[in-house]
Amino acid sequence: MIGKTEQEIELMREPNRIVRDCLNFVGERIHAGMTTKEIDELVYRFIKASDAEPSCLGYCGYPASACVSVNETVVHGIPDGRVLREGDIVSVDLCAYKNGYHGDGARTFAIGAVSAENEKLIRVTEECFFRGIEGLKAGTPLYDIGYRVQQHAEKNGFSVIRAYTGHGIGREMHEDPSVPNFGRKGTGMRLPVNTVICIEPMIAAGGFRVNVLDDGWTAVTRDGKCAAHYENTVVVREDGVEILTL
Ligand code: MF3
Ligand code: CO
Repeated sequence: MIGKTEQEIELMREPNRIVRDCLNFVGERIHAGMTTKEIDELVYRFIKASDAEPSCLGYCGYPASACVSVNETVVHGIPDGRVLREGDIVSVDLCAYKNGYHGDGARTFAIGAVSAENEKLIRVTEECFFRGIEGLKAGTPLYDIGYRVQQHAEKNGFSVIRAYTGHGIGREMHEDPSVPNFGRKGTGMRLPVNTVICIEPMIAAGGFRVNVLDDGWTAVTRDGKCAAHYENTVVVREDGVEILTL
């Protein structure tokens, strides 16, 4: 019972549109001198003003509406008083709940001029998502997605984070199946029509190993090199995918 009905997919459009619009809203305002907490406030207000709920707030005790992950933080950065500086790269991941369903998406933003390597890291991470969905349709083996993501990341000299994966989404923020960003071609379940999944490459400029800080959330690369994150919620259709957060 992994595939969703057309009616459920209709209900999922709105929370996902809100996620998309909120990520664009943040992208237009993010700048050097701003704190990560201020980004979280923008997200909270945007989602509330859209008559939706920020799914992350209170999820397993998570204390904010968005994950704001700077430089070597891979995911789940907790917004605080940290001030963004020119040259930083900042991943913003957020979820909205409306109509009884969740939407989920993430983008990595450059603050002013960033290093050539970080610019490439952001670009390749986005490309990894689009590689991941190439040829994806009902019946595709699940791990083909990760295989394609990994090929593209490693071809560019980067590594794929293993400790976190994409996921199914619907009435719950995290549903089956888990969607790794690595894998062997031709393996895994064949995706049923109308499966709704979050595909979210998390790509590191150095090694893929991470540590979680004492706050229990913040995941940082062990080697201190930067990481980027790009995520969309997609519907696996008979003949391709429909992206709900673009
Ligand atoms: N949006 C994240 C994901 O892609 C979930 C964030 S964890 C939370 O799975 F605790 F912040 F909600
Ligand atoms: Co997410």
